Amino acid sequence: MKNIVVLVSGSGSNLQAMIDACEQQKINGTINAVFSNKADAFGLDRAREAGIPAFSLLPHDFSSREAFDAQLIQEIDAWKPDLVVLAGYMRILSPLFVNHYAGRLLNIHPSLLPKYPGLHTHRQVLENGDSEHGTTVHFVTEELDGGPIILQAKIPVFPEDDERDIIGRIQHQEHAIYPLVVSWFIEGRLTMQGNTAWLDNVQLPAQGYAAD
Ligand code: GRF
Repeated sequence: MKNIVVLVSGSGSNLQAMIDACEQQKINGTINAVFSNKADAFGLDRAREAGIPAFSLLPHDFSSREAFDAQLIQEIDAWKPDLVVLAGYMRILSPLFVNHYAGRLLNIHPSLLPKYPGLHTHRQVLENGDSEHGTTVHFVTEELDGGPIILQAKIPVFPEDDERDIIGRIQHQEHAIYPLVVSWFIEGRLTMQGNTAWLDNVQLPAQGYAAD
């Protein structure tokens, strides 16, 4: 059984989708531990409810980002992870962290990358009057929200939508595609080679699998 460690900062609905997928054996791995940079992240409660050890490390207890990440690495590595999954982990990672887990570190970002890296993606979509939006699962590299794209899901945006409508539609997609990508990785089908993602020995296009 492959080992998975998940990092969260908030509600953890993507973590929940992964817990459910493991229980349903759609992911053939074990979530060994969940870490958060927020003591009150609801994701920690979800983990404990599922019997998964859950921990918080608080940034203000550390002198620098590197010191925080070094401790986090040490604690994560105690679980011997094959894969580290960022699921709404809202903290910039140091190069130390990203390079340590290169090729086994995944993130989900709520936009159709490379459009709208960074924060407030839904607001930007509404302000710009976009009719299409989406979410992206990608490998993490040192470039913020810039690593090789694995899979995207698109949603329509309607004129009467507000941010809550969009978030609901996006999260529905996220809960389907993120566990799927994790299962590909755990089955050994998905790798990062250089700055590209490969699935079943085929290099994925810039927009990931199903790029149409
Ligand atoms: C998701 O929408 C994800 O795209 C973004 O943060 C959100 C996390 O939601 N990175 P949750 O904590 O998994 O509910």
